[in-house]
Amino acid sequence: MSLNDITEGSLMRVFITGASGHVGSALVPELLQHGHSVAGLARSDAAAARLTDWGADVVRGDLDDADDLHAAAQAADGVVHLAFRHDAMQAGDLTGAAETDLAALRAIADALAGTDKPLVGTSGTGLLALASLGRMGTEDDTVPGGYRIDAENFVIDLADKGIRSSVVRLPPITHSTLDHHGFVPSLITFARQNGFAAYVGDGSNRWPAVHTVDAARLYRLALESAAAGTRLHAVGDEEIKFRRIAEAIGRGLDVPVRSVQAEEAGQYVGFLAPFVALDNPTSAARTRKLLGWEPTHQGLLDDLADGHYFRTAV
Ligand SMILES: NC(=O)c1ccc[n+]([C@@H]2O[C@H](COP(=O)([O-])OP(=O)(O)OC[C@H]3O[C@@H](n4cnc5c(N)ncnc54)[C@H](OP(=O)(O)O)[C@@H]3O)[C@@H](O)[C@H]2O)c1
Repeated sequence: MSLNDITEGSLMRVFITGASGHVGSALVPELLQHGHSVAGLARSDAAAARLTDWGADVVRGDLDDADDLHAAAQAADGVVHLAFRHDAMQAGDLTGAAETDLAALRAIADALAGTDKPLVGTSGTGLLALASLGRMGTEDDTVPGGYRIDAENFVIDLADKGIRSSVVRLPPITHSTLDHHGFVPSLITFARQNGFAAYVGDGSNRWPAVHTVDAARLYRLALESAAAGTRLHAVGDEEIKFRRIAEAIGRGLDVPVRSVQAEEAGQYVGFLAPFVALDNPTSAARTRKLLGWEPTHQGLLDDLADGHYFRTAV
């Protein structure tokens, strides 16, 4: 924190939904270390205790409660929306999870409209794979609508409603020792169960990735200075062949690596079957230029080689 931050009044009281989750566990310290204060939404005593331990204030409530979200957003200088009902999504209620997400965003937007305060939303680079671009995806690539894409487009359109809105697209793999239930722990669990690490076809499809701490820094930069209506890519590794990821998991578990057919992927990688064959090379060149963001933490393959994932994933 510099004296300039204080004198220019750029320090914010930030309301974060999903503050107790994986990305939140890096974002809360990142904001506090830069002099901001944080109020995090917590739906349980355990989440509230985590936030208190990290030095954040607690807003008790649920993503479903529009009034609570509205009040918390109104009391803040800026909002980061990370929470998502992954439990509902994994139970098959994709529509319910997406509807809750949009309703929560509407409540927050209603509180911020006309204030020029920042709102940073969350999306995924995976939407670019669904667009079948046939090249590296960029921040300028958009998709008119779809699952979770509607929420991205909703947040971007808030630029016309007096909100300094931006969206961070996260890659399918956000990795670090803070990651306990993302795609990497799931892939490791499936490989352990199968006795081999799977990839689809020749495994040449590419995934982007980012270290959690680098992603958290991008959320802070977006909050502090992204222009209204900006899409940002939290991408460190722009393109890793999926086969390399499977090989790293195979080495970590000391199990073989095997190609499977797309049609049988569900048998080996469960709920990840729709994702493992996606080709999702993604550039963050524009994000780096716009905000001066540089990922400084290790890439995915080095993080896997460190071994921590194989000691903690069950
Ligand atoms: N991590 C990735 O690799 C990745 C990739 C692409 C996109 N994303 C997106 O990035 C965002 C953050 O991801 P993450 O990895 O940090 O997720 P996470 O670890 O699963 O955390 C989700 C957060 O949302 C909260 N939450 C869930 N349902 C809630 C509800 N009904 N009411 C209030 N809070 C609720 C959770 O609270 P509890 O602590 O109480 O559970 C937790 O704080 C999500 O939107 C996710 O879909 C993540």
